[in-house]
Amino acid sequence: MANALEIIAHRGFSARAPENTVAAFELAWKSKADACELDVHLTADQQIAVIHDKDTERTTGTKLSISKSNWADLAGLDAGSWKDRAFTGEKIPTLKQALATLPKGNRRFFIEIKCGPEIVPVLQSELAGYEKKASQLAVISFNKEATAATKKAMPWLKVYQLSGAKNSKKQPVDLTALIAEARAAGLDGLDLGLDWPWTAEMVAQIRAAGLGVFAYTVNKPADVRKLASIGVDGITTDDPTMIRATLALQ
Ligand code: G3P
Ligand code: CA
Repeated sequence: MANALEIIAHRGFSARAPENTVAAFELAWKSKADACELDVHLTADQQIAVIHDKDTERTTGTKLSISKSNWADLAGLDAGSWKDRAFTGEKIPTLKQALATLPKGNRRFFIEIKCGPEIVPVLQSELAGYEKKASQLAVISFNKEATAATKKAMPWLKVYQLSGAKNSKKQPVDLTALIAEARAAGLDGLDLGLDWPWTAEMVAQIRAAGLGVFAYTVNKPADVRKLASIGVDGITTDDPTMIRATLALQ
């Protein structure tokens, strides 16, 4: 990693290019992002599709459920023109196609599992060749079964638990319990939403448990300054150049 604070391009450079496409990842690498985040779902025929939503409507204009479609049904869809006509013809990538954009060196992908642990065996076979370059990958998920299963299947891989500050019942998440669960599953860190009441003490509590600490999705310079000052390991953003400018990085 080039900087003390890891700059993670959310769905690629999604402020400027269509999210979760090869164009968005390539633009992020060109813009000196340290890492790219991407989202994955499993198709009916056990392929890994890089897409945020569980169906294709928002980003292609055609509504197909990912889990009920075969890869061949998704492969031809235009996932670029909704963002800008200049990106017409960008496709939904497979995980393999997305990972192929990873530059040599010390940059990495954060792979967010959007479905459940059923994807883990497929992921394990896709990532088999990456064990020697383990530092170039991380897996994240809100789904605790998925993060635990990933760590169990691939102990060589960094796995971080995603969590917003509120649970599905809109109740505050207990940080101490979240830390304990992450440790029990052998995870490497927490990747927490901007809605948490971020303080230096909170970061210190997570670090004292031996866990890394990341923040998503941060698009305002004031939030970047605050999170950098309390010492988070990395920040996920739609606009990696905004973070570089805010922190006056060359
Ligand atoms: O990096 C975590 C973040 O991507 C989670 O939210 O909805 O953008 O996948 P979402
Ligand atoms: Ca995501």
